[in-house]
Amino acid sequence: MTVIAMTNLKGGVGKSSTAAHFAYWLSIIKKKKILVVDADGQGSTSTWLEGLDLNVPCHRITDPDTLAEEIPRLEEEVEYLVVDNAGNLGEATRCTLLTAKIAVIPVTPSGLDLMSAATAVKMVRQIQKARSGLPKAGIFINRGMKNTRLLREAQELLSQLEGVTAFKQIIYQRQAIADAFLQKTTVWGMKGAQDGAEDYHKLFNEILRLAK
Ligand SMILES: Nc1ncnc2c1ncn2[C@@H]1O[C@H](COP(=O)(O)OP(=O)(O)OP(=O)(O)O)[C@@H](O)[C@H]1O
Ligand SMILES: [Mg+2]
Repeated sequence: MTVIAMTNLKGGVGKSSTAAHFAYWLSIIKKKKILVVDADGQGSTSTWLEGLDLNVPCHRITDPDTLAEEIPRLEEEVEYLVVDNAGNLGEATRCTLLTAKIAVIPVTPSGLDLMSAATAVKMVRQIQKARSGLPKAGIFINRGMKNTRLLREAQELLSQLEGVTAFKQIIYQRQAIADAFLQKTTVWGMKGAQDGAEDYHKLFNEILRLAK
């Protein structure tokens, strides 16, 4: 019923890591009926989910028209449909944003990445105008380094963006998150990764609150 799309025109900001952890959290921890659409030709999320053996259906769809047709049909089957977009704002991303209730924008705290996040926000706001405020958008900092000036400046900047909720929870740079894909797991399956799991837990609750 609720489509949540990980979106940013920038590659490597954490869309797929967030999508895979979110899918695990929704399915295993929150016991929700979910489905994933991997709209990125690289297929990172589908490969990750195969490795997790979750029993969550994952559809690989990259064609814009097919996304526009299939997402509204597939969302009827589940409580949450998580979309992982490719790292660009092409037609496919536009089509997922035309069907999504929530756009989640991960951003890494560097000047250039903040600029590309602002471009993603601009695209989301154009679509919000045409869809009476949808998708609602939330932005969060991924790969933050504790107690750095860059992190504080990035937080300040995000809080000033109009039309977007700046999520309070930061996802810090953590080795466990970087290792999870190759180990075919998530932070919940790793020893010593409780801090990372707790951060994701708080962020994902914020996303669900926005989705209400
Ligand atoms: N919080 C984090 N801490 C450490 N490493 C991270 C974190 N988030 C993501 N990474 C690493 O950063 C890299 C990029 O992440 P990811 O593939 O999730 O980004 P993406 O936005 O999906 O990229 P693409 O646009 O290429 O699909 C990966 O190697 C991933 O393991
Ligand atoms: Mg990706």
